[in-house]
Formats: sequence, structure tokens, C-alpha cells
Amino acid sequence: MKISILTLFPEMYEGFLNTSIIKKARLKELVDFEIVDIRAFTLDKHKRVDDAPFGGGQGMVMFPQPIVDALRSVRSSESHVILMTPAATTFDQVKARELVDYQHLILICAHYEGYDERILNYVDEVLSIGDYVLTGGELASMVISDAVTRLVKGVITEDSNRYESFENGLLEYPQYTRPVEYDGQIVPEVLLSGHHENIRKYRLKESLRKTLRYRNDLLAKLEANKEIQEILNELINESADK
Ligand code: 6GU
Repeated sequence: MKISILTLFPEMYEGFLNTSIIKKARLKELVDFEIVDIRAFTLDKHKRVDDAPFGGGQGMVMFPQPIVDALRSVRSSESHVILMTPAATTFDQVKARELVDYQHLILICAHYEGYDERILNYVDEVLSIGDYVLTGGELASMVISDAVTRLVKGVITEDSNRYESFENGLLEYPQYTRPVEYDGQIVPEVLLSGHHENIRKYRLKESLRKTLRYRNDLLAKLEANKEIQEILNELINESADK
């Protein structure tokens, strides 16, 4: 897979591309990143890339020309083009799974206060990463390319994907490693028992406990089977008892 990122701030990607799993994925040639400097495409004689909005108002708006020309320099028939903006639907794990099937993703980062609306006619979709405002799309493009890269076959083991938060619509169960006792706190006994079925049940219950506590909204979307329904009833009764 190839990911091209169009930005006014290429230097922001140095740490991201050269650290940990993303670096390894690049070295293994599983993902090819291309960082494109939008400013290099401006036809403005002073190298400007933005100006005040027509109609007045705060801040600066990016010209369409440098963005569209940068896009044309990297786009092919295989490309799927995404504009990063808070005015969009929210990226999630389902979307990450969808995006990993494209040969070539192009992520456009708008900066400053915004972009000229006409660039929407050159993109396939718009994505936000959540309900807060960032100074630019760069961090959002890193979030999306990180979430997608780790789903590319060979980047991490298949198993580490299957059990993670959101992959089954639930938050991940708690994990423990050495030592068995730390600062007076002991690892749950069932995890040391070697009893796989009991461990599975314990983990499902703890997943549901966390989801109930922190992300009740996810439970509403869950297709609960009989086992899950029973555990949820248990958890609700347990909390009512307290
Ligand atoms: Cl994609 N861009 C900006 N500027 N802010 C955001 C965002 C994107 N997603 C959430 N907040």
C-alpha cells in the first residue's frame, strides 16, 4: 500500500515515519509513505498558499490551486483521496478496515483556518478524527495512516488485531504481565490457571465491564448473544448491589 500525504508542514512527519511499527513497516516495504509539500506547487509570486476569506471573517483560507496541483502530481486511477477536516464524519476502526483495501491513499491536510470549498470537488471523501479542533490536519493524517498501516498484512501479527478494542465492538480486556505481585497488587488468579475457557469468559466479562463503564454508546450497537446478555445482566446486578 502507498500513502501520500499533502501538507504545508512536511517536517512534522519525521518522528512519525522513523519510529517503531511505522518505521518497520516502511523498511519491510509493506507501506510506502510519500510526503508532498503543498507550498512547492503554489503559482503565487510570493509563494503564498492562502488569503483572507471572501465575505470577511477570521483567519486565512487555503487557495485551491496549490492543493489541486499537488494532488494531480501524485494521483492515479488507483488513488483514493481524503481531505482531513473537522467538518466531516468521524474516522473509526470500521473505516480503517475499509481504507486498508485501497492500493493508494492520498490524505490532504488543510491548515490554518480552512480551505476553499471548491477543493471538495477533487476528493473522494472527507474525514475527521473526533469532536475537537486541531490546528491542522497533520495529526489527523498520522492517526489515520497509523490505524491503517497496522492493519496491512505482515505489519503486526493477525492475532494482535483480533483481540483489540473495537475489533469486536468492545473495549479491550485488561492485560497483565510479570511480576505476579506488584506493589501489593496481584494478577487475577484465573489468568495463571491455564484454563482457557475460564480465561476467555473472564476476559469477555472484563471487556463488557469496561465498555459498560466508559463507552455505553458502543453497547447500544452491539449484537449481543445469549452469553453476552447474561454477563451484562450480572454486571448490572453487581453494580446495583454496591
Ligand atoms: Cl481532520 N482536522 C482538524 N483541523 N481538526 C480536527 C480534525 C481534522 N479532526 C478532528 N479535529
